[in-house]
Amino acid sequence: MPPRLVPVDPRAPDLAALADAAAVLRAGGLVAFPTETVYGLGANALDPAAVRGIYAAKGRPPGNPLIVHVAGPEMLGRVVAEWPPMAQTLADRFWPGPLTLVLPRAAGVPDEVTGGGTTVGVRMPAHPVALGLIRAAGVPVAAPSANRSTELSPTRAGHVLAGLGERVDLILDGGPTPDGIESTVLDLTTDPPTLLRPGPISLASLVKLIGPVRRRPEGPAAGPLPSPGLMPRHYAPRTPVELFEGRAALDRRADELRRAGTAFGMVLPGSAAGPDAVVLPDDPAGYASRLYDVLHELDGRSLSRILILLPPDTDDWFAVRDRLTRAAARG
Ligand code: TXA
Ligand code: MG
Repeated sequence: MPPRLVPVDPRAPDLAALADAAAVLRAGGLVAFPTETVYGLGANALDPAAVRGIYAAKGRPPGNPLIVHVAGPEMLGRVVAEWPPMAQTLADRFWPGPLTLVLPRAAGVPDEVTGGGTTVGVRMPAHPVALGLIRAAGVPVAAPSANRSTELSPTRAGHVLAGLGERVDLILDGGPTPDGIESTVLDLTTDPPTLLRPGPISLASLVKLIGPVRRRPEGPAAGPLPSPGLMPRHYAPRTPVELFEGRAALDRRADELRRAGTAFGMVLPGSAAGPDAVVLPDDPAGYASRLYDVLHELDGRSLSRILILLPPDTDDWFAVRDRLTRAAARG
């Protein structure tokens, strides 16, 4: 059966629609819903069978932990075993919002959520639809991005429908997601804390608030990956992506492909606008908010290549460059 697609106002979602979706969650079903970052594929985080349904729908390898979403501090006791002062400092400043904190798990959190590990990722999303859904369900909601494993994260309900189809029971369509890339993931079980995935909350703003933050090590990790977000091929379109640090190199490659009669797409930041190119905003937040939508769109055009001019290698572009690098990784 195809999923039920339920339109909702992203600012003031209809309570009946939220109650409907919450009932699906409580019955052990899967609901896709918008957050401020990307669409999530939600299940009741305290129901192991429901959480196994997420892995099946995504084709996600077991052992990749899921982020648990809460509607407020009153739900934290069911998710984490400890809530250190630093977590409170970060939550006071960045919650609700796109920051996931990794902390020791509470006893009632199933292994299916944590990948069998001793920690759990938790965040309170800012999107009214996400908050309203979790509140209506009355349970913490485990939700990875609502895409098949290794594919691009969805920023629109249509992306979810195209990627997961009947594997999801209900999709709340709240329009495009504003931030457009996945949340920042910060591990608070290390000292200093470790940035596991850069995202909309910048490293600089974390450091300013809590002091030193370790960046995850570059290159292939030794031993088990602390976070599947570290796997190189993640968030990737099907069309091969090539990245360029400079405009001249990109133009040379474009000429070469044109001469060979190869169909390709180009993604450029606004200041570098050219004909035949998709142009993205020149600021990191604006660029991020449109990036996956553009990649989904280009991926649907049956092109042989997508050429992307990388934004500058500066801290404010860290999260965007991370996603572009993953989009270009093969295998
Ligand atoms: O913005 C987001 O975070 C979206 C929305 C739906 O909230 N969710 C999302 O989930 O991106 P997912 O599963 O696609 O990515 C979760 C990331 C992965 O890199 C995972 O390894 C990491 O968070 N993660 C979750 N729990 C963890 C844990 N206990 N320890 C280490 N990493 C964890
Ligand atoms: Mg994901």
